[in-house]
Amino acid sequence: MAAADTIAEDKEEVWRFWNAEPCGTRYLQPSAGSLPQDCGRWLAEHFKAHARARYALEPHIAEFAGFRSAAGKKVLEIGVGMGADYLEWLKAGAQATGIDIAPMSIARARGRCELAGYDHLADLRVADAENLPFADNSFDLVYSYGVMHHSPDTVRCIEEARRVLKPGGEARIMLYHHPSVTGLLLWLRYGIWRRKSLRQSVYDHLESPATKTYTRGEALDLMQGFRDIKLQLVFSPGDLLLHQPSIRFQAMAYRWLWRVYPRRLVRKLAGRWKLFLLVSATKD
Ligand SMILES: C[S@@+](CC[C@H](N)C(=O)[O-])C[C@H]1O[C@@H](n2cnc3c(N)ncnc32)[C@H](O)[C@@H]1O
Repeated sequence: MAAADTIAEDKEEVWRFWNAEPCGTRYLQPSAGSLPQDCGRWLAEHFKAHARARYALEPHIAEFAGFRSAAGKKVLEIGVGMGADYLEWLKAGAQATGIDIAPMSIARARGRCELAGYDHLADLRVADAENLPFADNSFDLVYSYGVMHHSPDTVRCIEEARRVLKPGGEARIMLYHHPSVTGLLLWLRYGIWRRKSLRQSVYDHLESPATKTYTRGEALDLMQGFRDIKLQLVFSPGDLLLHQPSIRFQAMAYRWLWRVYPRRLVRKLAGRWKLFLLVSATKD
């Protein structure tokens, strides 16, 4: 099979996964996907609850994204998911465009903006990070949080982000890091018995199929053509088992593990084994 066909097939799986369950859906209960359209107030409250949970579990986001200094800037967010960060760009006064490959995510993000009274400012489109529908040198800032490692051709995603940035513009990209405690947990659960490596365990079992992870050196290689590259490692909620167990992990044994998990010890001993790699860099 030709490489292009393989990529298209992989991408369809990614599309299918995220379209069935837009990122963060677990914070909406019961499943918002099954709600009638007229549940506006209910949904508005749940979007707020999603944002509260997100920023409590990942307090580094606001500073990394730089919402506060975004007023007047042309921002592109790649992979908006349910649109929590996208709405923050609008609230901050940015001229923000958001894309996602999954129509369901774009629908949720649109709904969120509408319910918050920002629909007149929202520019949300279904599009592919590997083929951005924007002219060269269009944006001051390109932001993408936890997205590009899911797309089959991550190198292409970063090249596209660079292409649409204005010279001197900034990219802020969160990629999954290797190694991490999350990777270790997945290896213990799925990899060890099947003789899979840590990386393969993440590739096969973390979120959509074929999720890639990067060492810091590999991330630096990805950012060719950028200058002032800064890398920062941060624990993910998964490294510390801070969020609610997902549907996959509802058995008694997992619930027990969640209760006894030695979070303080993990924080102390994990060193660089953190899942989130925050990359910021400037286009030459
Ligand atoms: C883990 S979610 C992150 C969403 C959001 N940034 C957040 O932090 O909640 C990954 C998102 O990337 C989107 N995605 C994956 N591959 C993509 C691609 N090639 N182009 C655009 N979006 C993509 C998925 O549809 C999904 O919404």
